[in-house]
Amino acid sequence: MSEKLAILGGDPVRKVPFPAYRTIGPEEKQAVMEVMDDGVLSQFLGTWSPDFFGGPRVQKLEREWAHHFGVKHAITMNSATSGLYAAVGASGAGPGDEVVVSPYTMAASATAAVVYGAIPVFADIDPRTFCISAETIRERLSPYTKAIVVVDIFGYPADFEPIMRLAQEHNIVVIEDAAQSPGARRNGKWAGTLADIGVFSLNYHKTIHTGEGGVAVTDDTRLAERLQLIRNHAEVVVGKKGTADIVNMVGFNYRMTEIEAAIGSEQLKKLERLVSAREALANRLTAGLRGLAGLTVPEAEPDIRHGYYLYTIRYDSSVSGIPRDQFAAALRSEGLPVSEGYVRPNYLEPMYQQKIAFGRDGFPFTYGGYKGNVSYDRGLCPVAEQMHFEEVICLSIVHANATMDDMDDAVAIFRKVVRRLSDLVVTHGENTRLVQRACAEERS
Ligand SMILES: Cc1ncc(COP(=O)(O)O)c(C=O)c1O
Repeated sequence: MSEKLAILGGDPVRKVPFPAYRTIGPEEKQAVMEVMDDGVLSQFLGTWSPDFFGGPRVQKLEREWAHHFGVKHAITMNSATSGLYAAVGASGAGPGDEVVVSPYTMAASATAAVVYGAIPVFADIDPRTFCISAETIRERLSPYTKAIVVVDIFGYPADFEPIMRLAQEHNIVVIEDAAQSPGARRNGKWAGTLADIGVFSLNYHKTIHTGEGGVAVTDDTRLAERLQLIRNHAEVVVGKKGTADIVNMVGFNYRMTEIEAAIGSEQLKKLERLVSAREALANRLTAGLRGLAGLTVPEAEPDIRHGYYLYTIRYDSSVSGIPRDQFAAALRSEGLPVSEGYVRPNYLEPMYQQKIAFGRDGFPFTYGGYKGNVSYDRGLCPVAEQMHFEEVICLSIVHANATMDDMDDAVAIFRKVVRRLSDLVVTHGENTRLVQRACAEERS
C-alpha cells in the first residue's frame, strides 16, 4: 500500500464502503405480516374509552418497554419529537416560562419549549461528555425556569444525579432526551430513566427503530396521564375522564400504529445485543486511536455504559497545524466516512437569531408576559461552539453490522493520515492546492 495520502493522489487504505447499519430481519417481517392479517393497523380512538390507550400491540410494547427499563409507565409516540413535545406539555411549561436545554442537540429538544410558548434557554455543554451539566444549568436558572431538557448526546448518559438534586431544590421538571441512548447506563440505571420523564426515539437512524416512533417513560403516574392525554386529543377527553388540571391539555395525534408497535417489540429484544456490539467495537477503535497526537477519544468510564450512537473524537488543530476540514477530507479520501461537527448550536438557527416562531410579532420570544432576558448571541455557549466549529469529528461506522476488521481499517486510516500530516502543511504548494480542491469539491 502506498504511504502517499489518497487526498494527494495515493492509494486509499479502504477501497470498499464501510457496512450500513441494518437491524430489520425476518422477525420484524413476520410481526408486520401478522398485523396485516389482522387488518387492524391502529386501534386508537380520541375519546375516553378503552381504545383511548391504543390497540393490543401498542399496549404490549408499552408493557415490554416498561418492564425492560424498570419503569412504571411507558407511553408510545409516533416520534421522539412528539414525545419531547408531550413531555414539555406535561411539565406545565407555557408562555412566560423558560426551559433550560442543551444547544448541542437535534432541534426538537429545544423546539419542544417553543411549541408551548415557552423560551428555550441554552446552557453550555461539558467538553468531556458533550452534555449539559448541573454547573452550566445552574448559571441559566431563573425564577421563570419550569423545565430542563438534558440530552444524552451521542449515546452518553449525562451526569443526572447533581442535576436532579438541583431541580428538586427549585421544583423543576427534568426531561431526559434519550433519543440517542437506549441501552446506555449510568451507575446501574438505564439511560432514559434518570429524570422525571425520559424520551426515546425509534426513528430509522437510531440503535433500534420502527421507521418512525418514540417512547416516553416515567415513574410519575400524574405525568404519565398527562403524556397519554397530550398524545391523543386531550381537550375532548379531560371532561369525560374528570381530569382536574387542564393546563396544556390541548391534544395532538402522536399515536403509534400497530405496525410500528409490532416492529418495536422485535427490535427491543435485539437492543442489548446491538448495544454490546457497539461497545466492543468502540473499545477496539479507542484502543487503536488512543495517544495519537491531536486526538482525544471517548474513554470508557467506571459505572458508565456509553451507547455509542455516534463515535465522537475531538481534534486539536493547534497540535497538527492542519484545519479540521482538511484533516477530515484526508480521512474521507482514505475511505473513512467522517463528519466535522454535529449540528450547529441551536441558538444560531434563524428562528432564534431573528426571534420569529409563531406569527409575525416574535411570539413567544417577544411575549409581554415573559419577564426574563434570554440571549441567543454568538458566544453564548463557547464550549458548544468550539466543539462544533473546531473540534468534533463524528463517525457512524460503529454498529453491529461492522466488524473488528472494519475498526482496524479505521485505525489504519487515522494512523496514516496523522503520520503524513506534514504533507498537508506545505503552504502555497501543489499539496495545498490538491487539499483545497478536494475540500471545495466536497462542499459543492
Ligand atoms: C437528541 C435527539 N432528540 C430528539 C430527536 C427526535 O427524534 P425523532 O426523529 O424520533 O422525532 C432526535 C432524532 O434525531 C435526536 O437525535
